Amino acid sequence: MKRFRSCLSLFVLFFYTVEIGGLKCSETEFCSYLRDRPTADIYTVDINSIQIDDMGIIKFNILARIGYEDLEVYIYAYKDDILRVKIKEFNSTRFELSDVFAGAPNLAGVSSVDTEAIQMTITTNIGSRVVVKFAPFSLDFYRNEILELVLNGERLFVDNPQNSQSFSVGLSFPRSDHLYGLHEHATGLILRRTENDDPYRMYNLDHAEYPINDTASVYGAVPFIYGHGPEVTAGVFLHNAAQQFVDILPDQMAYFMAEAGTLDLFVFLGPTPAEILRQYLLITGVSYMPPLWSLGYHQSRYSYLTQEEVKDVVANFDNYNFQLDAIWLDIDHTDGQRYFTWNPDTFSDPIEMQNNISATNRKLVAISDPHIKVEKGYSVYDGALENEFFVKNSDGSVFEGRCYPGASSYIDFLNPEARNYYGGRYSYENFPGTTSTLAGIWNDMNEPVVFDLPEYTIPGDSLHFRNVRHMEMHNAYGMLHSRATFEGMMQRDNRTVRPFVLSRSHFAGSQRYAAIWTGDSRSTWEYLDISYAICLNSNLVGIVFCGGDVGGYAGDPDTELYQRWYQAGAWLPFFRAHSGKATPKREPYLFPEDVQNVIRNAIQQRYKHLPVWYTLFHEYIVYKTPLIRPLFFHYTNDRNVFETQNQILVGRDIMVRAVTEPGVDAVSVYFPGGTDEYWISLSNFEVQGGGTYADVPVDINSIPIYYRAGSIIVRKDTVRPSTADMINDGHTLYVNLAPNSTAHGTVYLDDTTSLFYLDYVEYNYLSIDYAGGEVTFTKIDSHANSGQFDFVVDLVVTHELSEMPIDGKPGKYIERRYTTDLNGNLLKDLKFNFKRNTKLSLKLK
Ligand code: NOJ
Repeated sequence: MKRFRSCLSLFVLFFYTVEIGGLKCSETEFCSYLRDRPTADIYTVDINSIQIDDMGIIKFNILARIGYEDLEVYIYAYKDDILRVKIKEFNSTRFELSDVFAGAPNLAGVSSVDTEAIQMTITTNIGSRVVVKFAPFSLDFYRNEILELVLNGERLFVDNPQNSQSFSVGLSFPRSDHLYGLHEHATGLILRRTENDDPYRMYNLDHAEYPINDTASVYGAVPFIYGHGPEVTAGVFLHNAAQQFVDILPDQMAYFMAEAGTLDLFVFLGPTPAEILRQYLLITGVSYMPPLWSLGYHQSRYSYLTQEEVKDVVANFDNYNFQLDAIWLDIDHTDGQRYFTWNPDTFSDPIEMQNNISATNRKLVAISDPHIKVEKGYSVYDGALENEFFVKNSDGSVFEGRCYPGASSYIDFLNPEARNYYGGRYSYENFPGTTSTLAGIWNDMNEPVVFDLPEYTIPGDSLHFRNVRHMEMHNAYGMLHSRATFEGMMQRDNRTVRPFVLSRSHFAGSQRYAAIWTGDSRSTWEYLDISYAICLNSNLVGIVFCGGDVGGYAGDPDTELYQRWYQAGAWLPFFRAHSGKATPKREPYLFPEDVQNVIRNAIQQRYKHLPVWYTLFHEYIVYKTPLIRPLFFHYTNDRNVFETQNQILVGRDIMVRAVTEPGVDAVSVYFPGGTDEYWISLSNFEVQGGGTYADVPVDINSIPIYYRAGSIIVRKDTVRPSTADMINDGHTLYVNLAPNSTAHGTVYLDDTTSLFYLDYVEYNYLSIDYAGGEVTFTKIDSHANSGQFDFVVDLVVTHELSEMPIDGKPGKYIERRYTTDLNGNLLKDLKFNFKRNTKLSLKLK
């Protein structure tokens, strides 16, 4: 298929001379206009127009210089230090997005508005302030007297130069060292200055084998930026799904240039990265708990071509003792890329195949793209055509373009009824040959991709529901596709099981419906390295369930890279191996035994830490904390970590240093934290102190992984073929003692698949604390029905600091293993039950 795609690209290039995915700012009319425009103070506040309504929403007009249009400005103060500014023409006809919000944010109201000669100060009920400068117009945002963000008047242009409704706005972060966010780009963690480069482009495109270090757009767009400095973090989210370019300019200014839609800006005043993300997720929402199996290892390939091959791969995972939770079907399982069908020759008995998979406790995930083959008699097509559920051309006829099935039309996911129709195709009745073993759906090509058009996508003037032009909502298309799928799968099983959806294209709010992956990478070290930066960034913008194709999508990794990719991939939230059509087969059991051992260890590390991942997901939902975190997320004032991207924190307490360099026998690791922070190595008995660097020796067998002293890591060390096989196993507690001999951790338990945790609060969430040879378990959510979730501990392993690190020389720790309690009872026979208890303890011997 890749070859076919390449031929098509040549065809496209020949006829349109446009590089796929690669339009520069200067090649688009709106951006070249807005970028080259000299800065100018166009607007002044009309003091007589200032109004405050009962809800505390402030409205005033800004008057423009001759030649420009006057505008109205709305300022909203929400709870939790969130502010919002909307700027638009009087009687604006601009499109306003409504699908991103998880719920209406709560207004906080304002406590005072003080108007002086040159400015007005709005003080919100929670103490933050917005100073509105009258002439020229600008806005200053303060929290606790700290000026965190400035909406710069001289870069504000809201006008219609080509009747496209473009606009621009400049935002500076005066207290920041770096800006982060603007997911998705392959440029690394921090946003780099772009005045001598092309701006960051936000326009979801199929950019296969995307260039690294290029500000070109990739598959996803989340127009959300963090400005971070040692003292404070601030954030902005441009609530707009149209194409944007964003320049990163001196003085930590982000200059947004948008093609269309409304200037609707959320400002988050932090003051920490964790608070910024929490504020953003209060608006855009978080996911449900994922089913536990989706946190296991996934095996995919473009494509497993027959049902026999699928069964064979699964059987080989067992034969060679590799863990596996899901096997994936790419487009060739369908009858001619008609989604919701099976190829009658190669998948003649899909039910038998699913039963076979299910008998091994595994799940199936199948692909389903948004392009629908144009063919009378294909029921999915007929139904959508009849109900006008397809995207239309500007003249009102149904849009057709080429994709995998040939001529295709595209479901209009902006239309709620079309979403419902499409979601309904996943029912057992409408998708014959499926069983509940098909537990996950993979939404691909949903930027959306059209092979025979410039930039590989739907033209901007195509029409959606209620005549919304495609250009207004382009970046939200994939999010709405995954929403339709998620809701359809939820309906299919009458809301009894948690669906799993993977989506390539994504936008703000996608986290509610889907996991994402980093798309069509190459099997090179650079792509392994950048997968960490991309997923760190996606975690910073709340789309936490992220991974990359392990092994790389295009090409053939050498065995060293292949092993390093598994070792690194096991520590990203979504862990799937996938590869392109032309690649040689590379399931782990096909490799020599020494390579197999390394891969097996990496996969087993993942399975041992499943309770960590599962608990982190609960904490993401409740506290809105990301699963993986750049070091600056916790070490907010340590400038040494502001650019670190191949070293990540999994939660708060595990630090992983991916090896993304070939042929190394040592890698440099930074140990963050103050002099009271210690990091305990999992590969030797060494301890490193906070604020130091070390060259840590590595061989091919492992990568550097550390537990933070003071933490309790909850694991399941008996690894079985799948997550389902491990559900009843007991836990091992790794108690990593701080110098004061205490440690703390948490664990979350539920039935792993249903929505009972939500509907009937059937779960258990415990704080685990160690002091003086005693482990105490305390129920954190006292209202939870926890009776059926006994907490079983088979083994406690303590790591006690025995020698402190000094002058760059690592310290040491002693490991002790406890299998019985003080009375000599085997730990594994003790069950900690929380039906009536809120606190239980275990004394160790
Ligand atoms: C493009 C996706 O990125 C890739 O993962 C998939 O294998 C192909 N489409 C075929 O469906």
